[in-house]
Amino acid sequence: MKDAQTGEALTPASLQRHLRSAVFGHRIFYYPTIGSTNDRALDLASAGEPEGALVLAEEQTGGRGRRQRTWESRASLGIYVSLVLRPGVPATQAPLFTFTAAVAVAEALRETCRLPGGIKWPNDVVVGRRKVAGILGETRGSHPRIREMVIGIGVNVNHASEDFAVDVRDRATSVRIESGECVDRAPILASILEGFERRYARVLAGKPAELLREWEALSVLPRGRRVAVGGPLGRCEGTVAGVDDEGALLLDTPGGGTTRVPFGEIVEAL
Ligand code: BTN
Repeated sequence: MKDAQTGEALTPASLQRHLRSAVFGHRIFYYPTIGSTNDRALDLASAGEPEGALVLAEEQTGGRGRRQRTWESRASLGIYVSLVLRPGVPATQAPLFTFTAAVAVAEALRETCRLPGGIKWPNDVVVGRRKVAGILGETRGSHPRIREMVIGIGVNVNHASEDFAVDVRDRATSVRIESGECVDRAPILASILEGFERRYARVLAGKPAELLREWEALSVLPRGRRVAVGGPLGRCEGTVAGVDDEGALLLDTPGGGTTRVPFGEIVEAL
């Protein structure tokens, strides 16, 4: 069914009509409404669900963002999905998979909606200064290798400005706000899944260089930009010197050294 304000419903059937990936998104767990697709995908992964399974919801009542934030997930407006991964690589490489998702989302928005999306470290997908999509990567347990991981992806698609809470309105955007058009979500999700699968295979094959090059090309805060970063270790300021091969941000600091920041987020461009 097509609605003028929300486009075609995003269901397993509408997704399957556009799907081009070989594995990702072929086993779909669909919920008209759910607490958090990440919670459901973590449970499924613990119960042995194979790699590639997708949890898809039209609405989340407890959508979670990074750093204990909530992710607004109103019915029929966005893409709210979680993917089950079983990469089996050292846990230090986990950020590479959230990078993979961020690049796949930014490229899918370019390809399907001609939206000039970029990435703000580590994995916010932005248009200009406003966020259009977010990625939440989570693992359970503390093993040296990642036995199972969930990648949650939230994309703001057909939101009007007033669909966002007042306190995030000036920091959030959507495909509809940027393009002036209401669009169908299934082709966007199919493109994300195909792009994720292709890049994930390269990273798993021990070839992350191409992904890291793509990530840097999409980065909205390129080398040489002064930034402030917030994270578990507090605030830190410096000049962007790139990312290393595990996705950590490298910052040249005023004292003359280079600081490696594995987790956190850029809180300010200085
Ligand atoms: C962020 O803070 O930028 C990450 C947002 C991630 C939101 C998605 S929506 C689908 C999945 N389920 C959740 O509860 N969160 C992620």
